Amino acid sequence: MPIMKLLFLFLLSVGIVKSQGTLDYDDEDSTALPPTEGESTGVDARGHRPLNKKREPFPSLKPVLPPPSSGIRYRARPTKPPVTGRPKEPVVYPDNGGCKHVSEELGVLCPTGCELRTELLKQESTIKPTVLDLTDKVRKLEQSSSSIFSYTNMLDERLAKRQKQVRDNQNVISQYNKEVEEHYYFVKENLDSNIPSNLKILRGIVDILHQKLQKLENAITSQLSECRTPCTVSCNVPVVSGKECEDIIRKGGDKSEMYLVQPDPLVKPYKVYCDMTTENGGWLLIQNRQDGSVNFGRTWDAYKKGFGNIAFSGGKKYCDTPGEYWLGNDKISQLTKMGPTELLIELEDWDGAKVKAHYGGFNIQGEANKYQLSVSNYRGTAGNALLEGASQLLGENRTMTIHNSMFFSTFDRDNDGWANPDPKKQCSKEDGGGWWYNRCHSANPNGRYYWGGHYTPEMAKHGTDDGIVWMNWKGSWHSLKKVSMKIRPVSEQ
Ligand SMILES: *[C@@H]1O[C@H](CO)[C@@H](O)[C@H](O)[C@H]1NC(C)=O
Repeated sequence: MPIMKLLFLFLLSVGIVKSQGTLDYDDEDSTALPPTEGESTGVDARGHRPLNKKREPFPSLKPVLPPPSSGIRYRARPTKPPVTGRPKEPVVYPDNGGCKHVSEELGVLCPTGCELRTELLKQESTIKPTVLDLTDKVRKLEQSSSSIFSYTNMLDERLAKRQKQVRDNQNVISQYNKEVEEHYYFVKENLDSNIPSNLKILRGIVDILHQKLQKLENAITSQLSECRTPCTVSCNVPVVSGKECEDIIRKGGDKSEMYLVQPDPLVKPYKVYCDMTTENGGWLLIQNRQDGSVNFGRTWDAYKKGFGNIAFSGGKKYCDTPGEYWLGNDKISQLTKMGPTELLIELEDWDGAKVKAHYGGFNIQGEANKYQLSVSNYRGTAGNALLEGASQLLGENRTMTIHNSMFFSTFDRDNDGWANPDPKKQCSKEDGGGWWYNRCHSANPNGRYYWGGHYTPEMAKHGTDDGIVWMNWKGSWHSLKKVSMKIRPVSEQ
Protein backbone atom coordinates (compact mmCIF):
# COMPACT_ATOMS: atom_id res chain seq x y z
CA MET A 1 0.00 0.00 0.00
CA PRO A 2 2.65 2.63 0.87
CA ILE A 3 4.47 1.55 -2.26
CA MET A 4 1.41 2.38 -4.32
CA LYS A 5 1.20 5.76 -2.72
CA LEU A 6 4.86 6.42 -3.26
CA LEU A 7 4.56 5.37 -6.85
CA PHE A 8 1.62 7.64 -7.36
CA LEU A 9 3.38 10.60 -5.80
CA PHE A 10 6.48 9.81 -7.78
CA LEU A 11 4.56 9.88 -11.03
CA LEU A 12 2.96 13.15 -10.05
CA SER A 13 6.27 14.74 -9.19
CA VAL A 14 7.86 13.50 -12.39
CA GLY A 15 5.10 15.23 -14.27
CA ILE A 16 5.73 18.47 -12.44
CA VAL A 17 9.48 18.38 -12.83
CA LYS A 18 9.06 17.69 -16.51
CA SER A 19 6.80 20.61 -17.05
CA GLN A 20 9.12 22.93 -15.15
CA GLY A 21 12.16 21.60 -16.96
CA THR A 22 10.87 22.75 -20.30
CA LEU A 23 10.37 26.19 -18.85
CA ASP A 24 13.93 26.57 -17.70
CA TYR A 25 15.43 25.62 -20.96
CA ASP A 26 16.40 28.45 -23.21
CA ASP A 27 16.63 27.09 -26.73
CA GLU A 28 17.14 30.42 -28.27
CA ASP A 29 18.72 29.39 -31.51
CA SER A 30 16.88 26.38 -32.89
CA THR A 31 17.05 27.58 -36.46
CA ALA A 32 20.71 26.72 -36.80
CA LEU A 33 21.66 24.17 -39.42
CA PRO A 34 23.37 20.86 -38.66
CA PRO A 35 27.07 20.64 -39.42
CA THR A 36 27.83 20.17 -43.09
CA GLU A 37 29.89 17.45 -44.73
CA GLY A 38 30.31 15.64 -41.42
CA GLU A 39 33.31 17.76 -40.83
CA SER A 40 35.10 17.28 -37.56
CA THR A 41 32.35 17.29 -34.97
CA GLY A 42 33.09 16.87 -31.31
CA VAL A 43 36.72 17.88 -31.55
CA ASP A 44 37.13 19.84 -28.39
CA ALA A 45 39.79 22.22 -29.52
CA ARG A 46 38.51 23.36 -32.89
CA GLY A 47 39.73 26.65 -34.30
CA HIS A 48 42.15 25.13 -36.80
CA ARG A 49 41.58 23.43 -40.17
CA PRO A 50 44.07 20.50 -40.33
CA LEU A 51 46.22 20.37 -43.45
CA ASN A 52 45.79 17.92 -46.26
CA LYS A 53 49.53 17.57 -46.80
CA LYS A 54 49.30 16.37 -50.41
CA ARG A 55 47.33 19.25 -51.71
CA GLU A 56 47.54 22.29 -49.54
CA PRO A 57 50.33 24.68 -48.83
CA PHE A 58 51.01 25.58 -45.24
CA PRO A 59 49.51 28.97 -44.47
CA SER A 60 52.17 31.61 -44.62
CA LEU A 61 52.25 34.31 -42.04
CA LYS A 62 52.51 37.56 -43.94
CA PRO A 63 55.54 39.40 -42.65
CA VAL A 64 54.61 42.47 -40.75
CA LEU A 65 56.61 45.02 -38.85
CA PRO A 66 56.07 45.04 -35.12
CA PRO A 67 53.91 47.91 -33.92
CA PRO A 68 55.85 51.16 -33.65
CA SER A 69 57.44 51.84 -30.31
CA SER A 70 58.95 55.23 -30.90
CA GLY A 71 57.10 58.47 -31.09
CA ILE A 72 55.34 58.26 -27.80
CA ARG A 73 52.92 61.15 -27.64
CA TYR A 74 52.18 61.30 -23.97
CA ARG A 75 54.28 61.72 -20.87
CA ALA A 76 53.42 59.67 -17.85
CA ARG A 77 50.10 60.70 -16.42
CA PRO A 78 49.85 61.23 -12.72
CA THR A 79 48.35 59.15 -11.88
CA LYS A 80 11.59 4.39 -9.42
CA PRO A 81 7.65 -1.84 -8.71
CA PRO A 82 3.91 -2.26 -7.90
CA VAL A 83 2.62 -5.25 -5.64
CA THR A 84 -1.08 -6.23 -5.96
CA GLY A 85 -3.10 -8.92 -3.99
CA ARG A 86 -3.80 -11.55 -6.65
CA PRO A 87 -7.52 -12.63 -6.56
CA LYS A 88 -8.02 -16.30 -5.29
CA GLU A 89 -9.37 -18.74 -7.88
CA PRO A 90 -13.02 -19.66 -7.24
CA VAL A 91 -13.32 -23.06 -5.37
CA VAL A 92 -15.84 -25.58 -6.89
CA TYR A 93 -17.35 -27.85 -4.20
CA PRO A 94 -18.60 -31.45 -5.10
CA ASP A 95 -22.30 -32.21 -4.72
CA ASN A 96 -22.71 -34.37 -1.56
CA GLY A 97 -26.15 -35.83 -2.48
CA GLY A 98 -26.12 -39.60 -3.35
CA CYS A 99 -23.23 -40.34 -1.15
CA LYS A 100 -25.23 -42.61 1.19
CA HIS A 101 -25.89 -46.22 0.14
CA VAL A 102 -29.17 -48.33 0.54
CA SER A 103 -29.14 -52.07 1.70
CA GLU A 104 -32.81 -53.39 2.07
CA GLU A 105 -33.00 -55.40 -1.23
CA LEU A 106 -32.38 -58.89 0.29
CA GLY A 107 -35.07 -58.80 3.06
CA VAL A 108 -38.09 -60.19 0.91
CA LEU A 109 -36.99 -63.78 0.82
CA CYS A 110 -39.19 -65.73 3.55
CA PRO A 111 -38.95 -69.69 3.24
CA THR A 112 -41.76 -72.19 4.69
CA GLY A 113 -42.00 -76.07 5.43
CA CYS A 114 -41.05 -78.93 3.05
CA GLU A 115 -41.99 -76.95 0.04
CA LEU A 116 -39.22 -74.99 0.94
CA ARG A 117 -37.17 -78.06 1.73
CA THR A 118 -37.96 -79.75 -1.73
CA GLU A 119 -37.49 -76.57 -3.42
CA LEU A 120 -34.48 -76.10 -1.53
CA LEU A 121 -33.15 -79.60 -2.29
CA LYS A 122 -34.10 -79.08 -5.92
CA GLN A 123 -32.38 -75.95 -6.08
CA GLU A 124 -29.71 -76.74 -3.59
CA SER A 125 -27.29 -77.65 -6.27
CA THR A 126 -27.92 -74.42 -8.07
CA ILE A 127 -28.67 -72.30 -5.07
CA LYS A 128 -25.74 -73.46 -3.09
CA PRO A 129 -23.23 -71.92 -5.32
CA THR A 130 -25.49 -68.96 -5.67
CA VAL A 131 -25.74 -68.70 -1.89
CA LEU A 132 -22.05 -69.14 -1.65
CA ASP A 133 -21.72 -66.57 -4.26
CA LEU A 134 -24.19 -64.40 -2.47
CA THR A 135 -22.46 -64.93 0.85
CA ASP A 136 -19.36 -63.94 -0.79
CA LYS A 137 -21.08 -60.92 -2.23
CA VAL A 138 -22.65 -60.04 1.07
CA ARG A 139 -19.31 -60.25 2.71
CA LYS A 140 -17.91 -58.07 0.05
CA LEU A 141 -20.84 -55.79 0.39
CA GLU A 142 -20.24 -55.61 4.11
CA GLN A 143 -16.73 -54.78 3.43
CA SER A 144 -17.59 -52.24 0.87
CA SER A 145 -20.30 -50.74 3.05
CA SER A 146 -17.77 -50.23 5.76
CA SER A 147 -15.37 -48.73 3.27
CA ILE A 148 -18.21 -46.63 1.92
CA PHE A 149 -18.89 -45.53 5.47
CA SER A 150 -15.39 -44.53 6.01
CA TYR A 151 -15.46 -42.86 2.60
CA THR A 152 -18.53 -40.97 3.71
CA ASN A 153 -16.76 -39.90 6.84
CA MET A 154 -13.89 -38.80 4.80
CA LEU A 155 -16.17 -36.85 2.53
CA ASP A 156 -17.80 -35.22 5.52
CA GLU A 157 -14.45 -34.22 6.78
CA ARG A 158 -13.55 -32.82 3.45
CA LEU A 159 -16.75 -30.99 3.24
CA ALA A 160 -16.08 -29.42 6.60
CA LYS A 161 -12.64 -28.47 5.41
CA ARG A 162 -13.96 -27.02 2.22
CA GLN A 163 -16.56 -25.04 4.07
CA LYS A 164 -13.86 -23.68 6.25
CA GLN A 165 -11.90 -22.86 3.14
CA VAL A 166 -14.86 -21.06 1.72
CA ARG A 167 -15.10 -18.98 4.84
CA ASP A 168 -11.40 -18.29 4.68
CA ASN A 169 -11.64 -17.36 1.06
CA GLN A 170 -14.50 -15.09 1.78
CA ASN A 171 -12.35 -13.41 4.36
CA VAL A 172 -9.59 -13.05 1.84
CA ILE A 173 -11.97 -11.72 -0.74
CA SER A 174 -13.45 -9.21 1.60
CA GLN A 175 -9.97 -8.21 2.70
CA TYR A 176 -9.08 -7.81 -0.92
CA ASN A 177 -12.19 -5.78 -1.53
CA LYS A 178 -11.26 -3.59 1.37
CA GLU A 179 -7.88 -2.99 -0.15
CA VAL A 180 -9.34 -2.16 -3.49
CA GLU A 181 -11.64 0.25 -1.74
CA GLU A 182 -8.73 1.88 0.00
CA HIS A 183 -6.86 2.23 -3.26
CA TYR A 184 -9.89 3.74 -4.79
CA TYR A 185 -10.20 6.30 -2.04
CA PHE A 186 -6.54 7.10 -2.21
CA VAL A 187 -6.62 7.65 -5.95
CA LYS A 188 -9.81 9.64 -5.65
CA GLU A 189 -8.31 11.76 -2.94
CA ASN A 190 -5.33 12.48 -5.09
CA LEU A 191 -7.47 13.26 -8.06
CA ASP A 192 -9.57 15.59 -5.95
CA SER A 193 -6.74 17.41 -4.25
CA ASN A 194 -3.37 17.01 -5.93
CA ILE A 195 -4.30 17.15 -9.55
CA PRO A 196 -6.32 20.33 -9.34
CA SER A 197 -3.51 21.99 -7.37
CA ASN A 198 -0.94 20.75 -9.84
CA LEU A 199 -3.08 22.00 -12.65
CA LYS A 200 -3.24 25.27 -10.84
CA ILE A 201 0.54 25.42 -10.68
CA LEU A 202 0.82 24.62 -14.35
CA ARG A 203 -1.80 27.17 -15.22
CA GLY A 204 0.12 29.70 -13.17
CA ILE A 205 3.25 28.91 -15.12
CA VAL A 206 1.41 29.24 -18.40
CA ASP A 207 0.06 32.59 -17.22
CA ILE A 208 3.53 33.80 -16.35
CA LEU A 209 4.78 32.72 -19.74
CA HIS A 210 1.89 34.48 -21.34
CA GLN A 211 2.72 37.65 -19.47
CA LYS A 212 6.34 37.36 -20.52
CA LEU A 213 5.32 36.95 -24.14
CA GLN A 214 3.14 40.00 -23.88
CA LYS A 215 5.96 42.02 -22.38
CA LEU A 216 8.22 40.88 -25.17
CA GLU A 217 5.62 41.84 -27.72
CA ASN A 218 5.25 45.26 -26.19
CA ALA A 219 9.00 45.69 -26.10
CA ILE A 220 9.27 44.67 -29.74
CA THR A 221 6.49 47.04 -30.74
CA SER A 222 8.04 49.99 -28.94
CA GLN A 223 11.47 49.16 -30.35
CA LEU A 224 10.03 48.95 -33.84
CA SER A 225 8.47 52.38 -33.52
CA GLU A 226 11.79 53.75 -32.34
CA CYS A 227 13.55 52.17 -35.27
CA ARG A 228 11.35 53.97 -37.78
CA THR A 229 13.10 57.21 -37.02
CA PRO A 230 16.87 57.25 -37.27
CA CYS A 231 18.49 56.53 -33.96
CA THR A 232 19.18 59.63 -32.04
CA VAL A 233 21.20 59.51 -28.90
CA SER A 234 19.07 61.00 -26.20
CA CYS A 235 21.83 62.09 -23.92
CA ASN A 236 24.27 64.90 -23.82
CA VAL A 237 27.70 64.59 -25.24
CA PRO A 238 30.11 66.01 -22.71
CA VAL A 239 31.64 69.37 -23.46
CA VAL A 240 35.10 68.03 -23.09
CA SER A 241 36.43 66.35 -26.20
CA GLY A 242 39.86 65.47 -27.52
CA LYS A 243 42.00 63.52 -29.96
CA GLU A 244 41.12 60.30 -28.21
CA CYS A 245 40.19 59.10 -24.73
CA GLU A 246 43.67 59.58 -23.26
CA ASP A 247 43.57 63.20 -24.36
CA ILE A 248 40.13 63.58 -22.82
CA ILE A 249 41.05 62.14 -19.44
CA ARG A 250 44.02 64.46 -19.35
CA LYS A 251 41.63 67.33 -19.94
CA GLY A 252 39.50 66.33 -17.01
CA GLY A 253 36.96 63.98 -18.57
CA ASP A 254 37.14 61.32 -15.91
CA LYS A 255 33.71 59.65 -16.24
CA SER A 256 33.36 56.55 -18.38
CA GLU A 257 30.88 57.53 -21.04
CA MET A 258 30.45 58.53 -24.64
CA TYR A 259 32.64 61.34 -25.92
CA LEU A 260 33.29 63.07 -29.18
CA VAL A 261 36.83 62.58 -30.50
CA GLN A 262 38.78 64.02 -33.38
CA PRO A 263 42.13 62.28 -33.69
CA ASP A 264 43.16 64.37 -36.67
CA PRO A 265 41.93 67.73 -37.95
CA LEU A 266 41.36 66.06 -41.34
CA VAL A 267 38.79 63.57 -40.02
CA LYS A 268 35.28 64.45 -38.89
CA PRO A 269 34.74 64.21 -35.14
CA TYR A 270 33.01 60.99 -34.14
CA LYS A 271 31.51 59.36 -31.08
CA VAL A 272 33.29 56.72 -29.05
CA TYR A 273 32.91 55.20 -25.62
CA CYS A 274 35.80 55.97 -23.29
CA ASP A 275 36.61 53.74 -20.33
CA MET A 276 38.11 56.12 -17.80
CA THR A 277 38.29 53.72 -14.86
CA THR A 278 39.85 50.38 -15.91
CA GLU A 279 43.63 50.26 -15.42
CA ASN A 280 44.07 53.96 -15.06
CA GLY A 281 41.51 54.91 -17.71
CA GLY A 282 42.01 56.66 -21.04
CA TRP A 283 40.81 53.64 -23.02
CA LEU A 284 38.93 54.02 -26.28
CA LEU A 285 36.57 51.13 -27.03
CA ILE A 286 37.05 49.80 -30.54
CA GLN A 287 34.93 46.70 -29.99
CA ASN A 288 32.30 45.66 -27.45
CA ARG A 289 30.09 42.56 -27.02
CA GLN A 290 27.82 42.12 -24.01
CA ASP A 291 24.30 40.97 -24.90
CA GLY A 292 24.14 39.82 -28.52
CA SER A 293 22.08 42.86 -29.51
CA VAL A 294 24.18 43.59 -32.58
CA ASN A 295 24.85 41.24 -35.48
CA PHE A 296 28.58 40.94 -36.18
CA GLY A 297 28.27 38.81 -39.33
CA ARG A 298 28.76 41.84 -41.59
CA THR A 299 30.39 42.88 -44.83
CA TRP A 300 33.79 44.36 -45.51
CA ASP A 301 32.24 47.76 -45.95
CA ALA A 302 30.42 47.56 -42.61
CA TYR A 303 33.63 46.60 -40.79
CA LYS A 304 35.45 49.37 -42.64
CA LYS A 305 33.02 52.07 -41.50
CA GLY A 306 31.98 50.60 -38.19
CA PHE A 307 28.56 49.52 -36.91
CA GLY A 308 26.51 49.03 -33.77
CA ASN A 309 25.55 51.33 -30.91
CA ILE A 310 28.22 53.44 -29.27
CA ALA A 311 26.41 54.07 -25.99
CA PHE A 312 23.12 54.44 -24.15
CA SER A 313 21.86 56.54 -21.36
CA GLY A 314 21.81 54.54 -18.17
CA GLY A 315 19.00 56.74 -16.86
CA LYS A 316 21.00 59.91 -16.32
CA LYS A 317 21.59 62.59 -18.87
CA TYR A 318 24.85 61.24 -20.21
CA CYS A 319 25.59 58.08 -22.21
CA ASP A 320 27.33 56.08 -19.54
CA THR A 321 26.50 52.59 -20.83
CA PRO A 322 28.41 51.27 -23.83
CA GLY A 323 26.51 49.47 -26.59
CA GLU A 324 27.74 46.65 -28.78
CA TYR A 325 29.79 48.00 -31.61
CA TRP A 326 32.77 47.79 -33.94
CA LEU A 327 34.37 51.19 -34.27
CA GLY A 328 35.44 50.66 -37.86
CA ASN A 329 38.69 49.52 -39.43
CA ASP A 330 39.49 52.89 -40.97
CA LYS A 331 39.18 54.62 -37.63
CA ILE A 332 41.07 51.90 -35.74
CA SER A 333 43.86 51.98 -38.31
CA GLN A 334 44.06 55.74 -38.20
CA LEU A 335 44.18 55.80 -34.39
CA THR A 336 46.98 53.25 -34.23
CA LYS A 337 48.99 55.10 -36.87
CA MET A 338 49.19 58.19 -34.69
CA GLY A 339 51.79 56.57 -32.47
CA PRO A 340 52.51 53.62 -30.22
CA THR A 341 49.22 52.18 -29.10
CA GLU A 342 48.40 49.51 -26.55
CA LEU A 343 45.45 47.13 -26.64
CA LEU A 344 43.45 45.76 -23.73
CA ILE A 345 41.09 42.86 -24.34
CA GLU A 346 38.78 42.09 -21.44
CA LEU A 347 36.84 38.83 -21.38
CA GLU A 348 34.04 37.56 -19.15
CA ASP A 349 32.46 34.10 -19.18
CA TRP A 350 28.91 33.11 -18.17
CA ASP A 351 29.95 32.38 -14.58
CA GLY A 352 31.17 35.93 -14.19
CA ALA A 353 34.87 35.00 -14.30
CA LYS A 354 37.04 37.66 -15.92
CA VAL A 355 40.44 37.61 -17.61
CA LYS A 356 42.49 40.06 -19.64
CA ALA A 357 44.89 40.06 -22.52
CA HIS A 358 47.09 43.12 -22.76
CA TYR A 359 49.23 43.87 -25.79
CA GLY A 360 51.81 46.60 -25.31
CA GLY A 361 51.91 47.19 -29.07
CA PHE A 362 48.96 47.26 -31.45
CA ASN A 363 48.90 48.46 -35.02
CA ILE A 364 46.47 48.12 -37.92
CA GLN A 365 47.50 48.88 -41.51
CA GLY A 366 45.22 50.76 -43.88
CA GLU A 367 42.64 49.25 -46.22
CA ALA A 368 45.22 49.02 -49.03
CA ASN A 369 47.10 46.57 -46.83
CA LYS A 370 43.90 44.78 -45.87
CA TYR A 371 44.05 46.16 -42.35
CA GLN A 372 46.92 43.86 -41.48
CA LEU A 373 47.25 43.22 -37.74
CA SER A 374 50.37 43.63 -35.71
CA VAL A 375 50.55 43.08 -31.95
CA SER A 376 53.38 42.67 -29.46
CA ASN A 377 54.29 42.45 -25.78
CA TYR A 378 51.60 40.26 -24.34
CA ARG A 379 50.82 40.14 -20.68
CA GLY A 380 47.65 38.98 -18.96
CA THR A 381 45.55 36.07 -17.74
CA ALA A 382 43.55 35.18 -20.87
CA GLY A 383 46.35 33.50 -22.81
CA ASN A 384 48.38 34.88 -25.68
CA ALA A 385 46.05 33.86 -28.50
CA LEU A 386 46.94 36.63 -30.93
CA LEU A 387 50.69 35.96 -30.95
CA GLU A 388 50.98 32.27 -30.09
CA GLY A 389 47.73 30.68 -31.25
CA ALA A 390 45.56 28.19 -29.37
CA SER A 391 47.41 26.64 -26.43
CA GLN A 392 45.38 23.38 -26.81
CA LEU A 393 46.81 22.74 -30.27
CA LEU A 394 50.23 21.46 -31.24
CA GLY A 395 52.69 22.18 -34.02
CA GLU A 396 51.27 23.53 -37.23
CA ASN A 397 47.74 23.15 -35.86
CA ARG A 398 48.63 25.80 -33.32
CA THR A 399 50.58 28.12 -35.60
CA MET A 400 47.74 28.21 -38.08
CA THR A 401 45.63 29.83 -35.38
CA ILE A 402 47.99 32.75 -34.75
CA HIS A 403 46.38 36.07 -35.62
CA ASN A 404 49.34 38.41 -35.60
CA SER A 405 50.29 39.58 -39.10
CA MET A 406 47.02 38.34 -40.63
CA PHE A 407 44.88 40.37 -42.97
CA PHE A 408 41.32 41.28 -42.11
CA SER A 409 38.63 39.01 -43.63
CA THR A 410 34.87 39.29 -43.89
CA PHE A 411 32.46 36.82 -45.51
CA ASP A 412 32.55 38.90 -48.67
CA ARG A 413 36.32 39.53 -48.66
CA ASP A 414 38.53 36.50 -48.11
CA ASN A 415 42.05 37.35 -46.98
CA ASP A 416 42.51 34.49 -44.51
CA GLY A 417 45.36 31.97 -44.26
CA TRP A 418 43.20 29.07 -45.48
CA ALA A 419 44.15 28.42 -49.10
CA ASN A 420 41.16 26.34 -50.11
CA PRO A 421 39.73 26.60 -53.63
CA ASP A 422 36.23 25.86 -52.29
CA PRO A 423 34.63 29.30 -52.00
CA LYS A 424 32.55 28.06 -49.06
CA LYS A 425 35.66 27.15 -47.09
CA GLN A 426 36.48 30.55 -45.79
CA CYS A 427 37.13 31.32 -42.17
CA SER A 428 34.90 34.35 -42.02
CA LYS A 429 31.98 32.45 -43.60
CA GLU A 430 32.42 29.54 -41.19
CA ASP A 431 33.27 31.43 -38.03
CA GLY A 432 30.66 34.15 -38.10
CA GLY A 433 32.38 37.54 -38.01
CA GLY A 434 34.98 39.84 -39.51
CA TRP A 435 38.44 39.23 -38.06
CA TRP A 436 42.13 38.72 -38.71
CA TYR A 437 41.51 35.07 -39.54
CA ASN A 438 44.39 32.71 -40.23
CA ARG A 439 43.33 29.07 -40.65
CA CYS A 440 41.24 29.96 -38.76
CA HIS A 441 41.39 31.28 -35.23
CA SER A 442 42.35 30.92 -31.61
CA ALA A 443 40.36 34.04 -30.76
CA ASN A 444 37.04 34.99 -32.34
CA PRO A 445 35.71 38.06 -30.49
CA ASN A 446 33.46 39.00 -33.40
CA GLY A 447 31.84 35.55 -33.60
CA ARG A 448 28.21 34.71 -33.03
CA TYR A 449 26.66 35.50 -29.67
CA TYR A 450 25.46 32.37 -27.86
CA TRP A 451 23.21 33.10 -24.90
CA GLY A 452 24.32 30.99 -21.94
CA GLY A 453 27.76 30.33 -23.39
CA HIS A 454 27.73 26.60 -24.00
CA TYR A 455 27.17 25.61 -27.59
CA THR A 456 27.87 22.59 -29.79
CA PRO A 457 28.87 21.93 -33.41
CA GLU A 458 25.21 20.99 -34.01
CA MET A 459 24.12 24.47 -32.97
CA ALA A 460 26.69 26.24 -35.10
CA LYS A 461 25.73 27.14 -38.64
CA HIS A 462 28.67 25.30 -40.17
CA GLY A 463 29.58 22.96 -37.31
CA THR A 464 32.58 25.13 -36.49
CA ASP A 465 33.34 27.03 -33.30
CA ASP A 466 31.79 30.27 -34.49
CA GLY A 467 31.00 31.65 -31.02
CA ILE A 468 32.76 34.41 -29.16
CA VAL A 469 35.77 32.28 -28.49
CA TRP A 470 39.08 32.76 -26.72
CA MET A 471 40.43 29.22 -26.98
CA ASN A 472 43.38 29.76 -24.68
CA TRP A 473 41.01 30.51 -21.84
CA LYS A 474 37.71 28.61 -22.31
CA GLY A 475 38.33 26.37 -25.33
CA SER A 476 36.22 26.31 -28.46
CA TRP A 477 32.76 25.58 -27.13
CA HIS A 478 32.17 28.25 -24.54
CA SER A 479 31.03 31.45 -26.15
CA LEU A 480 31.87 34.36 -23.89
CA LYS A 481 29.33 36.63 -22.30
CA LYS A 482 31.33 39.79 -22.67
CA VAL A 483 34.33 40.92 -24.68
CA SER A 484 35.69 44.36 -25.18
CA MET A 485 38.75 45.67 -27.01
CA LYS A 486 40.14 49.02 -25.90
CA ILE A 487 43.08 51.01 -27.14
CA ARG A 488 45.15 53.77 -25.64
CA PRO A 489 48.24 55.68 -26.74
CA VAL A 490 51.31 54.37 -24.96
CA SER A 491 52.49 56.85 -22.37
CA GLU A 492 56.00 57.42 -21.16
CA GLN A 493 56.77 55.32 -18.12
C1 LIG B 1 46.48 18.45 -36.13
O1 LIG B 1 45.10 18.20 -35.96
C2 LIG B 1 44.64 17.00 -36.60
C3 LIG B 1 43.14 16.87 -36.34
O2 LIG B 1 42.54 18.09 -36.22
C4 LIG B 1 45.39 15.79 -36.08
O3 LIG B 1 44.99 14.63 -36.80
C5 LIG B 1 46.89 16.01 -36.23
O4 LIG B 1 47.58 14.93 -35.64
C6 LIG B 1 47.29 17.33 -35.55
N1 LIG B 1 48.71 17.58 -35.76
C7 LIG B 1 49.51 17.87 -34.76
C8 LIG B 1 50.91 18.18 -35.11
O5 LIG B 1 49.13 17.88 -33.58
